[in-house]
Amino acid sequence: MNQVLESMESKVNSEIMYSQIIEYSVETIIIHVDHKVLYINQSGANFLRGPKEEFIGKNVLNFFQDDMKDMIRRRIQKAMDGNEPTNLIEQTVTRFDGSLVDVELYCHPVQFGERRAIQTVLRDITVRKETEKMLNDRQKLASIGQIAAGIAHEVKNPLTSVKGFLQLLKENNSHPYLFTMESELEKAIDTLQNLLQVSKPNFYEEQIVEIDVCKELNSIVFLFQDKLYNVELEMDIKDCRKHIYGKKNLYLKAFFNLIKNAIESMPSKGKLRIEHYFQDDLVHVKISDTGVGIPEDKLNLLGTPFYSSKSDGTGLGLTQVFTTINDHGGQMTVNSVEGQGTTFHLKLPQFPVGM
Ligand SMILES: Nc1ncnc2c1ncn2[C@@H]1O[C@H](COP(=O)(O)OP(=O)(O)OP(=O)(O)O)[C@@H](O)[C@H]1O
Ligand SMILES: [Mg+2]
Repeated sequence: MNQVLESMESKVNSEIMYSQIIEYSVETIIIHVDHKVLYINQSGANFLRGPKEEFIGKNVLNFFQDDMKDMIRRRIQKAMDGNEPTNLIEQTVTRFDGSLVDVELYCHPVQFGERRAIQTVLRDITVRKETEKMLNDRQKLASIGQIAAGIAHEVKNPLTSVKGFLQLLKENNSHPYLFTMESELEKAIDTLQNLLQVSKPNFYEEQIVEIDVCKELNSIVFLFQDKLYNVELEMDIKDCRKHIYGKKNLYLKAFFNLIKNAIESMPSKGKLRIEHYFQDDLVHVKISDTGVGIPEDKLNLLGTPFYSSKSDGTGLGLTQVFTTINDHGGQMTVNSVEGQGTTFHLKLPQFPVGM
């Protein structure tokens, strides 16, 4: 008798265990017959952002985009007719609150009580999609960079020799145009130099050294002294004993570019705030301004070579910043409100990752 009870108890326990595994599985599990939802697990209801009971009885096809419904219907039918799960496919589904989310899904037939039903399993692939997009963007950037670097390299050499001849000319002739020509030429060579640096950093093999970020930030701000007369400066610098290691010139240039952008965003007046602190094993640097801000639809263009809203901008500043931070294994996020200001938040590892 005891044995019977024990076996019943263990059966009940294992059923509870299985139902909990399914309820809280990371995947969304929907069971449906004739497209009507009979069951959805708790994680699924959370993922699709609705109360569990609201999904019951609903048409499962309604989660999918209109032009995909026929294809999903055919897949469900195929799963119903066969005994195999369908292949994984990627789809966008509409959640209960109307938001869209990318998922990967498959269907397979199951026995639900007395009935043969279909179990559809959805897996959230938002992170994977974002990573793919990032890699794709990086590849695009890398190829644009390579083309640009090739051109820059070809053009820089003749310009440098023109500059040499101009200098020789200046020795015998002090025509004022020669000075203008030389300074314009220097600007052009400088731009090409910047372009080469961001697109082919290997050209400039630099040693990895210890960098006292606090000290460097102070020196860079000092370089902008003449531009700071109508900009209030606030330095909130902590944890200065935490140094980082990396390519110093690249880092200095990145800080320089960010501070330059911040100051340029406040042509009449405003406040520049520079923060430095150590948290979660990372050195954090925040550069904030109360300037013009960046329109939301332009945020994803930041870092793209040559994107500039300024009449005299080259649009290479942020490309250099992103490349440097990325190459050192750091991260940078941008927060901006049009008309209110922008914050660039850098999270730098103390030791470069993968250099
Ligand atoms: N702090 C900021 N506030 C507002 N807009 C910004 C800020 N930083 C960058 N931007 C926007 O991003 C664009 C690209 O910046 P980036 O530094 O790459 O080039 P640039 O400043 O235009 O030219 P360059 O740096 O060569 O002088 C800027 O033209 C500007 O529109
Ligand atoms: Mg700039």
